[in-house]
Amino acid sequence: MQSSFLSIENLGKRFNNANILENVSFSLEKGESMLIQGKSGCGKTTLLRCIALLEAIDRGRIIFNGRVVSKPGHLDRTNSRLEIGMVFQQLYLWSHMTVLENVALPLWLRNGKRKKLADEAAKHQLAQLGIEDKANEYPNQLSGGQRQRAAFARALVHSPQLLLLDEITANLDPETAYKVVGIVEKIIEAGTSVIWVTHSELPSAIWSYVLRFGDRIWIKEKYN
Ligand SMILES: Nc1ncnc2c1ncn2[C@@H]1O[C@H](COP(=O)(O)OP(=O)(O)O)[C@@H](O)[C@H]1O
Ligand SMILES: [Mg+2]
Repeated sequence: MQSSFLSIENLGKRFNNANILENVSFSLEKGESMLIQGKSGCGKTTLLRCIALLEAIDRGRIIFNGRVVSKPGHLDRTNSRLEIGMVFQQLYLWSHMTVLENVALPLWLRNGKRKKLADEAAKHQLAQLGIEDKANEYPNQLSGGQRQRAAFARALVHSPQLLLLDEITANLDPETAYKVVGIVEKIIEAGTSVIWVTHSELPSAIWSYVLRFGDRIWIKEKYN
């Protein structure tokens, strides 16, 4: 178990004495990706937030790269914060900052003095995602798909080993959603593990894409 890239063992999470997640267990090897599907309110976002170490857990433990990074009363964010990226459903881009500033921010926070290097890395990431021309615009000047790319760029800017995607196609039209799938495809091909959660029946093209990669699909069967 300890050698697993990511191992979730009997994870339990409560909010206000309600059990939101109970006995959730699965593991993922490096480079492997998975899709988690479940109804709205069943705890998908909570699960990702626990894995991203944004949320403490009440039972079980999370092992990442062979280290116990989360167990009741203990959150170890030393390395994992940089090795795990997350794209939130609401994106959470800062509206008063340009796209470039949004993407470079995690690097400034980590290594404040080297702003120039951070900006270069952010520009490179924006170019990878095809929105380098939007670097100096503000999030509200972008289309939904472009904003999504900016959020991806920010999550990828410090080259995480694990990328958590929360309902990333939920607010997009089908055409833009397929483009986003293409982005995820490239990220997986480049060796990053992806955990993608969604409440909806995914369009068949996305299912076949996931199956094509031979990755495991864990469908959450226990609903609240
Ligand atoms: N910070 C919080 N405080 C209290 N309850 C919460 C909090 N976050 C989520 N919940 C509750 O946990 C349950 C699961 O929420 P969530 O993980 O967002 O579900 P999903 O992402 O599957 O729709 C919901 O009942 C929600 O109201
Ligand atoms: Mg959610």
